[in-house]
Amino acid sequence: MSKPIFILNGPNLNLLGTREPEIYGHTSLADLKSMCEARAANLDLEIFFEQSNSEAQIIDWIHEAINGADGIIINPAAFTHTSLAILDALKNVKCPIIELHISNPHTREAFRHHSYVTFAATGMIAGLGVNGYVLAIDAMADLLAAD
Ligand code: DQA
Repeated sequence: MSKPIFILNGPNLNLLGTREPEIYGHTSLADLKSMCEARAANLDLEIFFEQSNSEAQIIDWIHEAINGADGIIINPAAFTHTSLAILDALKNVKCPIIELHISNPHTREAFRHHSYVTFAATGMIAGLGVNGYVLAIDAMADLLAAD
């Protein structure tokens, strides 16, 4: 039986739409969730779409994903660059993991160039705006079909 794709979003992404719109665009998190639900429904996939400002909560969702998800799409936001704990949690997951960034961290400040999460990721999408989430769902569907 198929399990949901977990789409996990880290700190400050609840402010999408008003947060630095020149970098992250004008789409709200609620609208982004609707976009993801629509794309997933087209592909017959179920999603579990969540956001938290708490590192502990994100780790708990990753633990749930160990047995409860067919794939993880994660935008760890600033935790990308700081969280060994999120990397360690992701290392327990057997399903595909797509790291996602709305902006391209590699064209930004040097402190955004390093990602802990990349060490556990199957692949990464960055710099394509919120449309990257839709592309990540497509990519996840391909990865699961090839499995
Ligand atoms: C981000 C990039 C991170 O560097 C930043 O801390 C974020 C969002 C992105 O989606 O572009 O909060 O992950």
